[in-house]
Amino acid sequence: MLPDSELGAVLGVVRRCLAADGGLPVTGEPSFVNRRYDGPGTVRIGAYEQGRLVACGAARPYAHRWSLVGAVDPDFRGRGLGGELLDRLMTAAETVVQVETEALTPAAEELFHARGLRQVFAEDVFRLGPEVPPEQAALPDGIRVEEWGEETRGAFCQAYCASFADRPGYPGLTLEQWVSWLVEDDFRPDASLLARDAAGAPVGFVVCAEGFLVQLGAVPAWRRRGLGRALAAAALARLRAAGDAEVFLDVNVNNPASAALFRGLGFTGVSRRARFERR
Ligand SMILES: CC(C)(COP(=O)(O)OP(=O)(O)OC[C@H]1O[C@@H](n2cnc3c(N)ncnc32)[C@H](O)[C@@H]1OP(=O)(O)O)[C@@H](O)C(=O)NCCC(=O)NCCS
Repeated sequence: MLPDSELGAVLGVVRRCLAADGGLPVTGEPSFVNRRYDGPGTVRIGAYEQGRLVACGAARPYAHRWSLVGAVDPDFRGRGLGGELLDRLMTAAETVVQVETEALTPAAEELFHARGLRQVFAEDVFRLGPEVPPEQAALPDGIRVEEWGEETRGAFCQAYCASFADRPGYPGLTLEQWVSWLVEDDFRPDASLLARDAAGAPVGFVVCAEGFLVQLGAVPAWRRRGLGRALAAAALARLRAAGDAEVFLDVNVNNPASAALFRGLGFTGVSRRARFERR
């Protein structure tokens, strides 16, 4: 069991993995790492070489299951450390085991399959860097946009529900549930836009946080008419004008339409977040 005094060393290993494998910058922040390595009931283990922490992992009880994370320093891979960590954590954990990764590598995928874990979720992290020129994309005729506000958030939620209803796993959130999920400290109402048609009906939306495009949607009747692309381009222009040099977003691997849209705007993939499960 790794002592609390090793949490700084854990952060060091995680950051070296982030630099080598890619991933969202937030995954290298102490708060993100501590949530996974330092909660109540968490089992934390590590491997050392000449007194230096070179691999670490944790199993934490989470919503009726055990969630496992692990990291092997890039210089110490290919020696069986990841497999050893995983085996020990799976033994320590009880009931349903879910393994989380913020940057799936081919070696990790092979290891998870070899241990009987199956992928239950995967999304690609995309990044738009400051070197990509801004995209100008006109809104389709008859469309006007409004910013997020107290008086528009209900219409944003209508656009969200109508756009996402045909997505696999659509949770059917109420306005309150969606807003409390969406609006956190870094939410950016100025870069969150609602599209209305000529009759005023909500037909598309985009919502953003600092340096992050959270969701984009166009209702089915308005798809393939340039609405999604124009909303995304307008939101990106606002984020950039406010000083966000880079913008990230996640796209589920089962959403090739969305991936094509964002690649077309200059985004490139930086990592794959995934969850694997063993029952
Ligand atoms: C993804 C989505 C927002 C696209 O909106 P849209 O208004 O239809 O997109 P656009 O017309 O602006 O298309 C822009 C580009 O995206 C890509 N694209 C859009 N829909 C596509 C599809 N069904 N298949 C393949 N590529 C597609 C194309 O590259 C397209 O450019 P093109 O028309 O020149 O080929 C819309 O399909 C949607 O709301 N889906 C459900 C919600 C969702 O998945 N949101 C994204 C995740 S946050």
